[in-house]
Amino acid sequence: MDSYYLTTAIDYVNSKPHIGTAFEKIAADCVARYKRLRGFDTFFSMGNDEHSLNVEREARAQGLDPIAYCDRMAVEFEAIWQMLHLSYDRFVRTTEAAHERSVREVFRRIEERGDIYKGLYRGLYCVSCENFLQEKDLVDGKCPVHLREPDRIEEENFFFRLTRYREKLLAHIAANPSFALPEIRRNEIVNVLEAGLVDVSVSRSSQGWGIPLPADPSHVVYVWFDALINYLTSVGFPGPSDSFDRYWPADLHVIGKDITRFHCIIWPAMLLSAGIELPKSVYAHGFISVEGKKLSKSLGNVVDPRAMVERFGADTVRYYLLREVSFERDGDFSVGQLVGRHNADLANDLGNLLNRTAGMTRKYLGDAFPSPRPGEDGGELRDLAADAAARYAAAMDRFEFHNALAAVWDLVRRANRYIEENAPWTLAKDPSRKAKLETVLYNVFESLRIVSILISPVMPAKAEELALAIGIDRKAADFRFDADRAWRDAPGDGRSLRLDKPLFPRIEEEGAAS
Ligand code: MF3
Repeated sequence: MDSYYLTTAIDYVNSKPHIGTAFEKIAADCVARYKRLRGFDTFFSMGNDEHSLNVEREARAQGLDPIAYCDRMAVEFEAIWQMLHLSYDRFVRTTEAAHERSVREVFRRIEERGDIYKGLYRGLYCVSCENFLQEKDLVDGKCPVHLREPDRIEEENFFFRLTRYREKLLAHIAANPSFALPEIRRNEIVNVLEAGLVDVSVSRSSQGWGIPLPADPSHVVYVWFDALINYLTSVGFPGPSDSFDRYWPADLHVIGKDITRFHCIIWPAMLLSAGIELPKSVYAHGFISVEGKKLSKSLGNVVDPRAMVERFGADTVRYYLLREVSFERDGDFSVGQLVGRHNADLANDLGNLLNRTAGMTRKYLGDAFPSPRPGEDGGELRDLAADAAARYAAAMDRFEFHNALAAVWDLVRRANRYIEENAPWTLAKDPSRKAKLETVLYNVFESLRIVSILISPVMPAKAEELALAIGIDRKAADFRFDADRAWRDAPGDGRSLRLDKPLFPRIEEEGAAS
């Protein structure tokens, strides 16, 4: 079985996840679930990035030891991720002993290659970026991202010979364009590489919170150098480990567009130096604004994903983000739009399709599941379902979740029109047309069955409920695209309707426009 290993960025824990962080994880989870649906032996890793100065400062501000603070935050983060139905296989923390071992080994290999040297670092450092800046990066003397003055530091550091890998990286990207996605990010990276690199510092001597540097334990490993290695730790590096052989190289690192240089330049250079295969793809997504404004604590518009899940349910939040926001570009989060999407697409289009079909079946046929009769149908829903599944898969393979969902909703809307056109209420009046009536209802249920398969990476809980409502008692994790998307000519034995309550009740909330 082919394997598929994907990761998200690991998060600094100096603050709780906001809706933008959640978006990245939801999108990655959608890819992980889609790959499982396609039959891949999938491994999905997430985690927390704990050795940051910001984290240490926040811990101290709360009067806690950094590790006690990180333990507490790990519980908070995981609770939120579970509420969002994220199906990660491993949650890695950079304070784990396994990770320290992995960092030490990578460092040892890079040093052995002659790529580590001692030098004096004099320059600017933005603590919020955890990154070194150059004078030319500043705007009015401040970091342009965090709008704060960088620290001036002068200390003895260990450096990594990044410059040695410039040509190799350019050649690698030219030969493997999908290494850096989407194209707009690849072009940025190529520009940076072409403009020239400088070696990077990989240690800090003024800081105590971190992994001691193997070459000199009075230093700690620079937080980014430490963090990137999490992707190896998660699958058991340096081994011995079956899972490393099974899953490395990673197929996909999902990250935000602000950290592409770390992932597409420093990380592959570290791996080249250490003699480890490069990941196949890095995908950098856009950012989410809230109600048209950039996320910022001072604006107070940081949306808490937990509150959204409590109010609207995980699957609605997942659906809304994946349907509304293109993964590649920036997008906006708005409660009004979320409610609008829920009421239009989920409650009206899909929920009603199920309700009315189930209602008519009960009314006209009792508890029996309708059976199609040969020759009674033109097969248009069958063709459309095949077409929707193909378009869906093509879009998912390109990480265009919104287009994948649009393809599914073409089928949902068409099935609603099919009911209007075939008017089961008229067929039911004429006993000689019972075969046609059953066939029409069956075809709609069969479309709904295929819809439940296709939406399962996006709305895993609702997909399962939908399948159950139409008499299929299976876990979404066991759905398989190839076997399950094919149109079936008969319902199968023992199926009966089990719809007790609407799948997607309308959201009627004051102040939530729809
Ligand atoms: N913690 C970093 C950030 O939030 C991301 C680290 S991703 C890793 O910007 F690859 F380095 F792990």
